[in-house]
Amino acid sequence: MKTMTIYYSSTGRTELVANTIVDELDSDIVKIKDLKDRKGLKNKMISSLDAFRENKTKIQPIRVDLTDYNTIFFGTPTWASNPTPAIITIIDRCDLRGKDVILFTTMSANGGSPVIKRMKEKVEARGARVIGKFILKTKNKSKESLKNETKYNIKKIDLNK
Ligand SMILES: Cc1cc2nc3c(=O)[nH]c(=O)nc-3n(C[C@H](O)[C@H](O)[C@H](O)COP(=O)(O)O)c2cc1C
Repeated sequence: MKTMTIYYSSTGRTELVANTIVDELDSDIVKIKDLKDRKGLKNKMISSLDAFRENKTKIQPIRVDLTDYNTIFFGTPTWASNPTPAIITIIDRCDLRGKDVILFTTMSANGGSPVIKRMKEKVEARGARVIGKFILKTKNKSKESLKNETKYNIKKIDLNK
């Protein structure tokens, strides 16, 4: 069984979660970069609007070949209670037929549930079966506790279902 972790992260928290998954499950990893400038307050507002409207964005890499993988983790920060444009853009380019998928999001305080719900709809429409999901609050959390929460959440997922 080969595992792939695909994630977007703006300020490093989702990245920490993704890296913990890689360490724990010996997963391969692809970081999706958003080529649109997301820095500063004005861009933060635009980013929230982009997420809310489910606008696509320019990403790097533009595609991920999942032929050799049967289990895929998709991770994103929560933006305005929505998945980020970068993760939606890559999901819509993935062939997920027959794949087992685990979804995760990090958020400051709330809005994670609609993110998971929307990503679930998107990956299922592309042929995936969702076998796990988790939401992590990141506000005032140390790196250590985020790592430990990630480990706890992945242990709960039955990867051999
Ligand atoms: C544009 C934008 C919108 C956000 N919207 C929310 C939100 O709706 N709810 C929330 O709890 N946190 C929100 N956050 C905070 C992030 O979801 C949170 O800090 C996340 O852990 C950041 O992940 P990252 O470090 O991987 O980018 C938002 C952050 C940004 C930049």
